[in-house]
Amino acid sequence: MGNDLIQLKSVEKYYRGSSKTLKVLENINLHIQQGEILAILGPSGCGKTTLLRQIAGFDHPSSGGVFMDGQEIAKPEVKRMMIFQDFNQLFPWKTVIQNTIYPLQVNRLGDSEATRREIALKYLNLVELSGFEDSYPHQLSGGMKQKAAMARALVIKPKVLLMDEPFGSLDALTRLSLQNLLLKVWRETGVTIVLVTHDIQEAIILSDRIAVMGGRGSGGIKRIIPNQLPRPRAVGAEGYSEVYDQVYSLLDIHSEH
Ligand SMILES: Nc1ncnc2c1ncn2[C@@H]1O[C@H](COP(=O)(O)OP(=O)(O)OP(=O)(O)O)[C@@H](O)[C@H]1O
Ligand SMILES: [Mg+2]
Repeated sequence: MGNDLIQLKSVEKYYRGSSKTLKVLENINLHIQQGEILAILGPSGCGKTTLLRQIAGFDHPSSGGVFMDGQEIAKPEVKRMMIFQDFNQLFPWKTVIQNTIYPLQVNRLGDSEATRREIALKYLNLVELSGFEDSYPHQLSGGMKQKAAMARALVIKPKVLLMDEPFGSLDALTRLSLQNLLLKVWRETGVTIVLVTHDIQEAIILSDRIAVMGGRGSGGIKRIIPNQLPRPRAVGAEGYSEVYDQVYSLLDIHSEH
């Protein structure tokens, strides 16, 4: 850890409508370090997904630039894989192993179908889906689908996983188990992770730093909070509530009464 992998320099993003222009990202300057887990936290509509899309290369800033290894990001590439909240990101007509092998096939990786199968099985084992290789997505629970999506993203050894609320639609217990799984994957692969989340607890348990974004219409990063709690982390452990309070106070959450 310690070296910049991705840099966002003065990134601004506008969406032009017929009557007015919406400013979604405002003066974002962010350095993402090799090997870290960076959480991006903020209220709905503050621009989290938009920010992730600029890093993925799906979209381009209106001004400023996003760089990886010193080169401006121009298009999506396999070194940056994105994982979504939606459970329907797998091909429904392919089995789990066929879904996992697919990125190796389209990117012409692995010398034979047997090698590709071996690589896919290794990653399915890592995400604890061994035994479900031949299941179809409709036969899996939401949590299992997200595990398969992780295996499919990891199989081509990306440098960065861009995760847009990957556990947001899971029940609370499954979410905890997938968070632990993500930490195991991170330790074993060394992949850099940018994790968008609404969930303060998730950000604290998982990340090395938490970038807190502003409310609707402000579009900037309010502050980046370093999170150096010792791992493994637990809710309520020493230091937890201090980090929680720092994040909470930046989020402008207040009741109407
Ligand atoms: N393609 C687009 N065209 C016009 N406006 C857009 C477009 N994409 C996003 N927006 C607007 O930009 C703002 C930020 O959207 P974004 O999806 O990035 O927010 P978010 O923080 O990911 O929200 P959520 O937490 O609900 O997912 C919103 O006001 C949204 O309506
Ligand atoms: Mg979003």
